[in-house]
Amino acid sequence: MSDRVIIFDTTLRDGEQSPGCSMNTAEKLEVALALVELGVDVIEAGFPIASPGDFEAVQTIARQFGDRGPKICGLARCREEDIDRAGSALQDAQNKRIHVFLATSSIHRQYKLKMDKAEIVQKAVESVARAKAFCDDIEFSPEDAARTELDFLCEVVEKAIAAGATTVNIPDTVGYATPSQYFHVISHLKKNVSNIARAVISTHCHDDLGLAVANSLAGLEAGARQVECTLNGLGERAGNAALEEIVMALRTRQDHYNLTTGINTKKLCAASRLVSTITGMIVQRNKAIVGQNAFAHEAGIHQHGMLQERTTYEIMRPEDVGFTGSNLVLGKHSGRHAFRDRIVQLGYQLDERTFEKVFDDFIALCDKKKNVYDADIVALVENRSTEAPDRWKLATLHTSAGTGSIPTATIQLHEDGQPIVCDAAIGDGPVDAVFNALERITGISARLQNYQVRSLSVGKEAQGEVLVEIVHNNHVFHGKAASTDIIEASAQAYLKALNKAAANRHTQKPLHAQHE
Ligand code: KIV
Ligand code: ZN
Repeated sequence: MSDRVIIFDTTLRDGEQSPGCSMNTAEKLEVALALVELGVDVIEAGFPIASPGDFEAVQTIARQFGDRGPKICGLARCREEDIDRAGSALQDAQNKRIHVFLATSSIHRQYKLKMDKAEIVQKAVESVARAKAFCDDIEFSPEDAARTELDFLCEVVEKAIAAGATTVNIPDTVGYATPSQYFHVISHLKKNVSNIARAVISTHCHDDLGLAVANSLAGLEAGARQVECTLNGLGERAGNAALEEIVMALRTRQDHYNLTTGINTKKLCAASRLVSTITGMIVQRNKAIVGQNAFAHEAGIHQHGMLQERTTYEIMRPEDVGFTGSNLVLGKHSGRHAFRDRIVQLGYQLDERTFEKVFDDFIALCDKKKNVYDADIVALVENRSTEAPDRWKLATLHTSAGTGSIPTATIQLHEDGQPIVCDAAIGDGPVDAVFNALERITGISARLQNYQVRSLSVGKEAQGEVLVEIVHNNHVFHGKAASTDIIEASAQAYLKALNKAAANRHTQKPLHAQHE
């Protein structure tokens, strides 16, 4: 059996299903590029029949990256129209895969599908065969496999392989499995499915009990050779197995697992940051591998040990995952060359135009704060490189607030290259006044569901990063921005979220991957 694990990334499909994490095609392309650079083997780019936006995104990614390394995959239910739509979205890719799924557990058979076992097997077989007309590489997933009777699971998997499935994925759809049980399921399939050697077994674990990574690793120990995962563990409810955790567990504990991946681990932190910026889903500080505290040693005894010998308390080197702390790097006199070097070290490749803009922003930032840290540079790059063609852009902002006065905000916006639009509002504080003024100008009213400010580095002059989460027309939108002025960062973040709402970037999905 090969010791190479296939990394199947589903950030753009299962991850994107997380509420408020919808991405438009331009954003999906950015994430796809980061995944190509990371070296994933398969990119699940979306669920083409879900919406025209999903179709367009899969098609665009297939056209752009479908001959550059990773396979581009599209999801389909076991329905003719789904499979044909996936086939057509992937038409222009050389390296492609269609992923068909159908629930098999008794709960899903009885309540969701209202189909008996024989009907399920027949549908699965017909669907794999139909998908085979579009490409050779077909993945079949018996949804809710971890709660499916083992003998029936073996039967469906065997027939799907006989019909042409080249990968059989074993989803723990509801995050119910435990490591030893999941190990048993995969081992059972390996022993009891006569043609199992003709397909790769894959894991797909959700994190409802916090066991997604542990279950995926148990699956690999039992003989699976593909892992389905997402950056930052993005995904609905508690999310999917985190790509960065699986990859680093395999690498750090090579002695135990004896398995390898093709991932360029130095790109992990940059990819994680990109997904966080685009989705607005903040990575918790103590998140393994990519969290801000992942390599921080606070306790004196640990610091002492580290000074003597790094490996006393550090099992991975921060540089191996592209981790950047709040180390002091550059200042006003550092110059273009040093700045460019630092950007490359941080894992970014900017075109000349973007680089010049980021450099101008850096010079402007140096006027506001003496010390510029890696985290500041990351914020500058992300601000520029994720610049979507937004309808409104902030032109000017003035607020006044103080004890015994009424907080007010006056704002001017550029709208689609039109003359400046302007309005003012009051609020119960300057941030509230800013949000009210923005809503008056854009004509979009939203409910603020979450608002967070955090410091990007150290010191009173540090940039503040603001995250907002708003609800508009029952959809969630995120916005994130950083500035040394947190009122300005708040305005930029709120405007980003309003722009997303206006563009209806939450491409409403009439169908959901988990439900028939
Ligand atoms: O969790 C799940 O079962 C899925 C399938 C579509 C593979 O995401
Ligand atoms: Zn899933």
